[in-house]
Amino acid sequence: MAITSLFLLTLSLALASKPHVSVSSSIGGLLHDQGIRAAYWPSFTGYPASSINTSYFSHIYYAFVLPSPTTYALDITPDDVEKLLEFANASSSWNPRSKTVLSIGGGGGGALPGIFSQMASQPYSRATFINSTIKVARDYGFDGVDLDWEFPSNESDMSNLGLLFNEWREALEHEANVTKRVRLVLTSAVYYASNISFNSGPRSYPIQAISQYVDWISPMCFDYHGSWENFTGLHSALYDPNTNLSTDFGIGSWIQGGVPPEKIVMGLPLYGPTWSLENPNINTVGAPTTGTGPGSGLLVYSQVIDFNRDNNATIVFDT
Ligand SMILES: *[C@@H]1O[C@H](CO)[C@@H](O)[C@H](O)[C@H]1NC(C)=O
Ligand SMILES: *[C@@H]1O[C@H](CO)[C@@H](O)[C@H](O)[C@H]1NC(C)=O
Ligand SMILES: *[C@@H]1O[C@H](CO)[C@@H](O)[C@H](O)[C@H]1NC(C)=O
Ligand SMILES: *[C@@H]1O[C@H](CO)[C@@H](O)[C@H](O)[C@H]1NC(C)=O
Ligand SMILES: *[C@@H]1O[C@H](CO)[C@@H](O)[C@H](O)[C@H]1NC(C)=O
Ligand SMILES: *[C@@H]1O[C@H](CO)[C@@H](O)[C@H](O)[C@H]1NC(C)=O
Ligand SMILES: *[C@@H]1O[C@H](CO)[C@@H](O)[C@H](O)[C@H]1NC(C)=O
Ligand SMILES: *[C@@H]1O[C@H](CO)[C@@H](O)[C@H](O)[C@H]1NC(C)=O
Ligand SMILES: *[C@@H]1O[C@H](CO)[C@@H](O)[C@H](O)[C@H]1NC(C)=O
Repeated sequence: MAITSLFLLTLSLALASKPHVSVSSSIGGLLHDQGIRAAYWPSFTGYPASSINTSYFSHIYYAFVLPSPTTYALDITPDDVEKLLEFANASSSWNPRSKTVLSIGGGGGGALPGIFSQMASQPYSRATFINSTIKVARDYGFDGVDLDWEFPSNESDMSNLGLLFNEWREALEHEANVTKRVRLVLTSAVYYASNISFNSGPRSYPIQAISQYVDWISPMCFDYHGSWENFTGLHSALYDPNTNLSTDFGIGSWIQGGVPPEKIVMGLPLYGPTWSLENPNINTVGAPTTGTGPGSGLLVYSQVIDFNRDNNATIVFDT
């Protein structure tokens, strides 16, 4: 399975069950009352943070800031400062005010997974990273911090990730105690399933640490198929009877592994892959393709709407 994870605009919806009691001020209450309904603000696209209709969302994630490859503290560039200020300013006049989470990392690939791996491998670099996330989150008025490491590449990365979550949660609680402020939430975007086996050997997420220290995880239930393949496919299939590339399998693996279901927030894509068909008359799921379609293989939701309108497209629903 190839992973592109551009992570353009992901809407996450909670799978949390219906409430028995209503405690809407706490995190648990939020999960049970309304679910987590979060979206990423892609700071790099030019879409104004003030245009977000926050009535849809319990949380807005700022995407993304990155750690320095040498010190492992967050590397806040002048461009980041401008965007962070825009976001903070916009969020102060949102009505209703969605909570905000600073997301670190993303699907940029390249050196990033290795930088996370190095950072997580030593106590001092973990502490430097953790401290800087708290500082930046507080400086810009965030309600939480989020790790988007795509992806830990072996079992030692996975166990270091567990240490990171443990020390991060401890630091967040300590900071909240000392400053008498509401603790920052700690969340993480993770692979769609609790085990990863592409690119190098099988490795398992640190389920115990995640269950204990992370407020919720957001499995990335997308990119199962894409324009890198020579046939059309469902990139976020709920079910697939023939393979494990489905949301049913992925979410099931997290629950089976032992993460409390109320801490699992399913990540949904708001974009679609595109292909060029080998034969326009053979156009069902699985049809042979010769390459990418419009948008070099990927359109965001608004572009799909525009494309369909401009081309009088036939829209087919798969019930
Ligand atoms: C935001 O969305 C809500 C719910 O759909 C809608 O009632 C409201 O008019 C929207 N606000 C704006 C400014 O578009
Ligand atoms: C801050 O937000 C207000 C209200 O949304 C807006 O009018 C103003 O232009 C924003 N300022 C900056 C620097 O983004
Ligand atoms: C695990 O992967 C990282 C890179 O992500 C590498 O630096 C490290 O040496 C690997 N560890 C083992 C034990 O293979
Ligand atoms: C991180 O912050 C804690 C608490 O303020 C402090 O004790 C520790 O020395 C800091 N560590 C690093 C590496 O900055
Ligand atoms: C924070 O305060 C609570 C309640 O006073 C205490 O139980 C906990 O040990 C403290 N945690 C840290 C990390 O300081
Ligand atoms: C599609 O790709 C697979 C794997 O790369 C290859 O084996 C197959 O021949 C290709 N099919 C077509 C129709 O090009
Ligand atoms: C799906 O995953 C299960 C559990 O890891 C494994 O036993 C099974 O072989 C996998 N099935 C396929 C088609 O890869
Ligand atoms: C994931 O890996 C762990 C450890 O190897 C194993 O116990 C578990 O069954 C695997 N889960 C799935 C869904 O394959
Ligand atoms: C789409 O349909 C409209 C109305 O039938 C027509 O005017 C227009 O030329 C069509 N556009 C394309 C790209 O086929």
